[in-house]
Amino acid sequence: MNTTILAIESSCDDTSAAVMRDGVLLSNVTASQKVHELYGGVVPELASRAHEKNIVPVVDLALKQAGVQLEDLSAVAVTLGPGLMGSLLVGVSFAKGLSIALGIPLIEANHLQGHILAHFIQAKDDAGFCPPPYPYLCLLVSGGNSQIVKVNAYNDMEILGQTIDDAAGEALDKCSKVMGLGYPGGPIIDRLARKGNPQAFQFSKPQVDGLNYSFSGLKTSFLYRLRDELKTDPNFIETHKEDLAASLEKAVVDILMKKLSMAVKQTGIRHVALSGGVSANTGLRNAFKAQQDAGHWHIYIPKFSYTTDNAAMIAITGYYKYLHGEFCDIGKAAYARTAL
Ligand code: KG4
Repeated sequence: MNTTILAIESSCDDTSAAVMRDGVLLSNVTASQKVHELYGGVVPELASRAHEKNIVPVVDLALKQAGVQLEDLSAVAVTLGPGLMGSLLVGVSFAKGLSIALGIPLIEANHLQGHILAHFIQAKDDAGFCPPPYPYLCLLVSGGNSQIVKVNAYNDMEILGQTIDDAAGEALDKCSKVMGLGYPGGPIIDRLARKGNPQAFQFSKPQVDGLNYSFSGLKTSFLYRLRDELKTDPNFIETHKEDLAASLEKAVVDILMKKLSMAVKQTGIRHVALSGGVSANTGLRNAFKAQQDAGHWHIYIPKFSYTTDNAAMIAITGYYKYLHGEFCDIGKAAYARTAL
């Protein structure tokens, strides 16, 4: 008997559905919402409305691409939180309806746990599939989170350090916004940084104890530098945007890598994975590769399509929970905030 999971992710501004059979991904369909670009950030009300429009066609396409009928499903997995409440409610209500209508179990997934388990997504004909062994360290960096997590098992994770203010992606997005470059800022900064000098500008470095992160000081020092330079040169941003992007990216990567290296030393764990939207960043990926090339770490970097919000990571979380009979009460409510 096959185990076929339909997974749904709608925690922020991407509506995504995936189908997984016996741990192998059959489809992963995501509708991204362009509407937020106009506003320089995600507008929750608009996100909920777009999810409402997208959810049926996205689920339908995921089933069609997988060649799976509704009656073939063993369970439906859904992100219950954390995320934007209005966005979560669309996916959760849809999943609950499907679970009741088909008489199949509902499985809840934590969005952050999903990002961390993205390393276990196996696609069809995936010859290079090589998931990390437990325990491993995972640097989870997204628009809302910057965490170092010790992963002992699919359901046993310890946060060793996390941001005390802004997340890494949030800092990039905010700096991009003040430079007038657009949203989301991370990919724009990444593209510009490839043409700039990372040593051109220095920004303040955080002084935070232990393995915790802080990015608000970097953001503020970046903004002050722009403000001061613009007083004498109104074209400062236009003339220096590539150097600014390269220096900002370097500062973010240095902050992330410093604490991660400390975590490796403290735990003795040298299997190190990268997860979340910021893991698409070229500078960060290169810094990881440099650790591997130097023989220090074994690194695990997911496929690009599994780094941003996607339902494939919810499908693998749901699959493990299904195997362990971890089902969710139909009355359980979505939640906006939580740790892992
Ligand atoms: O994981 P994600 O898709 O959404 C959240 O759950 O937050 O991450 C989105 C974040 C945004 O801050 C975006 O700017 C950043 O990931 N990002 C990048 C890159 N691509 C996306 N940051 C740096 N370089 C990139 N190439």
